[in-house]
Amino acid sequence: MTHDEARTIITNRKRELGDKLIILGHHYQNDDILEYADYVGDSLELARKASRIERAESIVFCGVYFMAETAAILAPGRAVYIPDPAAGCPLADMAPPAEVLAAWDAITQVTRSVVPITYVNSTAELKAFCGRNEGAVCTSGNARKILAWALEKAGKIFFMPDRNLGRNTARSLGIPDGEIVEWDPGAAGMDRDAIAKARVILWKGWCPVHFPEFSAEDVSAIRTRFPGIKVIVHPETDPATVAASDLSGSTAMILEYLASLGEGQKVAVGTEAHMVYRAARANRFRIDVVPLKEVYCEDMAKITLEKLAQTLSRLESGQGRVEVAPDIAEHAMKALDAMLRI
Ligand code: 13P
Ligand code: SF4
Repeated sequence: MTHDEARTIITNRKRELGDKLIILGHHYQNDDILEYADYVGDSLELARKASRIERAESIVFCGVYFMAETAAILAPGRAVYIPDPAAGCPLADMAPPAEVLAAWDAITQVTRSVVPITYVNSTAELKAFCGRNEGAVCTSGNARKILAWALEKAGKIFFMPDRNLGRNTARSLGIPDGEIVEWDPGAAGMDRDAIAKARVILWKGWCPVHFPEFSAEDVSAIRTRFPGIKVIVHPETDPATVAASDLSGSTAMILEYLASLGEGQKVAVGTEAHMVYRAARANRFRIDVVPLKEVYCEDMAKITLEKLAQTLSRLESGQGRVEVAPDIAEHAMKALDAMLRI
């Protein structure tokens, strides 16, 4: 199928299905795809949108699998599709539920006063685990609020799976590094004293697009090259990179920051390059946006025009439909609902 054929199929199917169909797209998708999205956002905005769908019977999610799975949980009764179910997230895969349960057992043998929080970049099983244990989900857009809530509730957090988002957020809440420990699933466990003393226990996972790709050295190199440049990074970069930058925030927060800058400002953005180049084009007459480094998420890039066209032309076949087992969906919904309420 050529690009032009794919475009014709997508346009015709969208016209045919009208408001029975909604296409959601994440900021990391390429321009070709986002041209057809009815709504574009960060993970939090997309989750909120999915929970408030009114007319659409079918949701086609242009993003990675955990995002489509989250939409399927938040929009019961709608059919959710992803144009390529193999578009996964290596960070989400770093916390297999069986390993998390073993860690949880060890932690709760020391104390019951602990709240499990999972970053939305995780499997539905992990979200269900948090729901069953009175925890919550968070995104990079609301992590600070959710962690503050959990600390207030129990004084101790078990945060999965992104060690960088966890530490960056904990630091922003004033928690010293001495009260943050990392649970390494590859190690033999953790001593009881370390569990008892910690306020934040981080799962040792990371996003390979943001870490170790971006570094504090990249930030100082770009500052030397362009004196006066501002630097904003995604909080999946490590704490040293965040500390070297002017600001960190979710993809939506990065776009808001760019909109707030005065004319003529030069700014480097440390996140996925499709989004950075799109922001550079959108702001080109006002500010100068450059990537801190050119890094792409291969999984996000698995969604192509051709796959979107195929999905739309075969919705009735169920191909690419994302389904979550009822028991998992019920408990994952509790954790997502807690996030949306806090
Ligand atoms: P946002 O929550 O900022 O949209 O980021 C999602 C993501 O996968 C970042 O790598
Ligand atoms: Fe996952 Fe990283 Fe890609 Fe985001 S950028 S979807 S966290 S691999």
